[in-house]
Amino acid sequence: MVGLDSLRTSVKFALTFSFSVECNMKIQLDSDFDIRNNTIRNRFLKSSMSEQLGDKENNPTQGLVNLYRIWAQGGVGISISGNIMVDRKGLGEPKNVVLDEESDLDAFRRWTKAATAEGTHFWAQLNHPGKQTPSYLTKSPVAPSAIPLGAGLDKAFNIPRALNEEEILKLIKMFTTSAKLAKDVGFTGVQIHGAHGYLVSQFLSPHHNQREDQWGGSLENRMRFVLEIYTSMREVLGKAFPISIKLNSADFQKGGFSEEESIEVMKTLSEAGMDLIEISGGNYEAPAMMGETKKVRESTKKREAYFLHFAEKLRQVIDCPICVTGGFRSSAAMLDALKSGATDFIGAARPYALFPDFPILAMADPDYVSSFSLPSTGSKITDRLFAINIVWFEQQLHLLAAGKNADANLSAWSTVWLMTKGVGLQAFRKRRS
Ligand SMILES: Cc1cc2nc3c(=O)[nH]c(=O)nc-3n(C[C@H](O)[C@H](O)[C@H](O)COP(=O)(O)O)c2cc1C
Repeated sequence: MVGLDSLRTSVKFALTFSFSVECNMKIQLDSDFDIRNNTIRNRFLKSSMSEQLGDKENNPTQGLVNLYRIWAQGGVGISISGNIMVDRKGLGEPKNVVLDEESDLDAFRRWTKAATAEGTHFWAQLNHPGKQTPSYLTKSPVAPSAIPLGAGLDKAFNIPRALNEEEILKLIKMFTTSAKLAKDVGFTGVQIHGAHGYLVSQFLSPHHNQREDQWGGSLENRMRFVLEIYTSMREVLGKAFPISIKLNSADFQKGGFSEEESIEVMKTLSEAGMDLIEISGGNYEAPAMMGETKKVRESTKKREAYFLHFAEKLRQVIDCPICVTGGFRSSAAMLDALKSGATDFIGAARPYALFPDFPILAMADPDYVSSFSLPSTGSKITDRLFAINIVWFEQQLHLLAAGKNADANLSAWSTVWLMTKGVGLQAFRKRRS
């Protein structure tokens, strides 16, 4: 009997595999994709980039309206907003947008109207920074446990205090309220930011979460926070509204969230009904999301994307659509990744800051490569201190928002100057490992 069962399983696997290989061969960059009866016009997903273009009350500005109109016209299928904060007391950066009951909802409507032009989907990335909030913004940050950031970041970020149960439940409500408001103001989907070391990711990590109650300890307990957020959002958003999550494939940190645990969490979320899992990795202490890992495999260099190997493993165990983000630059590598079946969407961020019509260019030319040099002052220490690899791209977003062209030749020293002018001596405290 056992022999017959395993024969049946092998035949089923062979049929499914050959069917999916045949389907994948037909996929193109401009193939559409259905998520809960919402048709996405192609496979391009503009990954979240924090724009820092909120006004004094943390509402969206005209700059954001301009920027997202440009991206919609550039042909992207799903545009994910920069991280929008769910808690006014928990900002990751000074000019973050906040979506809560005090927000100017008409300003948000103007933003979503421009961003959804041309049939683009516009999803709100909802976030709470937890302990990853600079000390000049938050005196007493919150986290699952009172564990400071390491890797020399303790000067720029205050030691957090551990959340109590009442506060945890309140935070789940805040994520839900922001999601409900996002639907009301015209976003066509939401994304939970569960990656890069922010609060959701802190709960998942055995290093950052050392609680001994139902929110910490076992993996089942550590994933309770994100699962409760998802379930509560689904209840208010209904079955037809896309909910996505950006998650780390791993934290790339000793004692952190591992690949095996990440796969378990993604499996649980997929079974719970998640609509799209965007794969990234790392945090402020170990910024793997920007491709900054010590060892990079030769095959990864060739295939461009940092997390494709992980996606291949994940694909074997979940049904939920996948988006791999980080590193994609050429039409050829993007098409190969789709055809391999490891990913359904091509996530990218920095190419959109310099070439806002990246999807149109890539779909039109099989040899297209979005090539640019990463900004540098010439000193690695200075680059890290001023987070040049992030802030320089933010400057590009500000140029686009002001109706100008992006400038690939912009000096990295202008970033140093901008930061020193903006936050004074605080700029000289290391913000990323
Ligand atoms: C300026 C900038 C801001 C970013 N802000 C966010 C953010 O708010 N949320 C997020 O999930 N990722 C953020 N990221 C990371 C990107 O979404 C993406 O994961 C990373 O840049 C790797 O993709 P790429 O190689 O295509 O740039 C940011 C990246 C940059 C350059």
